[in-house]
Amino acid sequence: MSQPVSIAVVGSGYVGLVAAACFAEMGHHVICVDNDESKVKMLREGGIPIHEDYLPELLNRHRLNKVEFTSDLKSATQRSQAIFIAVGTPQSKTGSADLSYVDAVASEIARSIDGYKVIVEKSTVPVYTNEWIRRVIERNGVPKDLFDVASNPEFLREGTAVVDFLHADRIVVGVESERAGKLMSDIYAPLTSGEYYKLPQAVPGSLNENNPPPFLLTSTKAAELIKHASNAFLAMKISFINVVSNICEAVGADVEQVAKGIGSDSRIGPKFLRAGIGYGGSCFPKDVAAFRYVAEQLGVDFDLLKEVESINEEQKKRFFQKVRAALWTFRGKKLGVLGLAFKGGTDDIRESPALDIVEQLLKEGAHIAAFDPAATPRAKEVIPPSAFMRYVDDPYEAAADADALLILSDWHEFSELDLDKLHYTLRYPIVIDGRNLYDPAEMIERGFNYLSVGRPAHQHTRDLTVGHRLP
Ligand code: UDX
Repeated sequence: MSQPVSIAVVGSGYVGLVAAACFAEMGHHVICVDNDESKVKMLREGGIPIHEDYLPELLNRHRLNKVEFTSDLKSATQRSQAIFIAVGTPQSKTGSADLSYVDAVASEIARSIDGYKVIVEKSTVPVYTNEWIRRVIERNGVPKDLFDVASNPEFLREGTAVVDFLHADRIVVGVESERAGKLMSDIYAPLTSGEYYKLPQAVPGSLNENNPPPFLLTSTKAAELIKHASNAFLAMKISFINVVSNICEAVGADVEQVAKGIGSDSRIGPKFLRAGIGYGGSCFPKDVAAFRYVAEQLGVDFDLLKEVESINEEQKKRFFQKVRAALWTFRGKKLGVLGLAFKGGTDDIRESPALDIVEQLLKEGAHIAAFDPAATPRAKEVIPPSAFMRYVDDPYEAAADADALLILSDWHEFSELDLDKLHYTLRYPIVIDGRNLYDPAEMIERGFNYLSVGRPAHQHTRDLTVGHRLP
């Protein structure tokens, strides 16, 4: 049996909270530290500030024994063998990552160290951040043999973060000493030994005891680069397929067929080849910009990433033009919008292409009724409700009397709409799907004018004049 390790996780955002819950699930004792007292209070009382599958179950299971919440970083540092830094690294004006929170936390940890600790960077950070953390700690007078730094990037997707953590494709750990490598390997032993997957309460996923995740031990610099390079590569895959989808539209081919064809080559792989309205979220836009900045600082030409970014911007504009081409003008038109989150399965609206498109439609005078299963409260903070912007409680309310329905986030429930009801609810049965959730042939069959991304536009004119109402 692997030995429990005492761990502090600093920062209770998406990464920190998920990591803390999963470490507890793996049998470790975890102290979750956040300087926001109200968040700490909420977490202690059983509240959960983010929408993540399995997170409530895990926190409820471990809250009273294996996870504590506090704002006291000093005591958490002293009571832990490993301290994970999982604070925000927002994008600064230059595109670089703003590391001031990491710097502040590292200094405070340094002032609290009273025995050997491994300080682990878990936030997404540029190469050399570990070096800086080491220097900050040394500058605060901590002797070299009292600490090590490590880099342990996470590859969690929002919405599936818990499963991604416990069933990771790989665990990447960058260290500069054997001692730190040993502690990190102890922390992940429940996963890498396959032990965790045998437990009856184990969160289900693709791995099992015979197929545990590999543990990749690297230098700290390599680990830092792996994180940025992975996200930039995935963003590149999405931009690539989005351009291919535009070519498909020009020649009347189906991008899904093309994506399947190229993705079946095991060297390319089928994932992250879904064409759409461009990528968003808290990671890809920020990490592509930060990696580009890192390359620039090192004098390395990485203009490829600029192209990835500009294709992404262009993709949103193209979708907007598609809506315009279907509706001609927007002033006074009623549009139903399904999805405000940057993707389905999350309440996060950071860099959401859906919100960009909604903002543009509002600018041009459209009236919008929007539905999102989880992101509405956050969206309201950015686009307050008004005579032009209504937030509604279900997809059919969004569609009611609308001149067209736009699908902007890939929530699973949006792919299971009652199409007859939808047809009768809309004023005109026009569906413009930015996420390719429906089969174009079926949509024509059901009487819709259905437009999607990178697939032949199937026009259906029979029922366009007057919508049918439900009795
Ligand atoms: C991403 C990475 O996947 C994860 O490894 C990292 O730790 C954080 O960033 P996340 O931002 O949660 O995770 O979302 P992800 O599922 O990767 O999607 C990112 C964006 O790309 C979304 O806007 C999504 O809609 C879009 N996307 C994704 C596509 O447009 N097409 C695809 O094929 C896949």
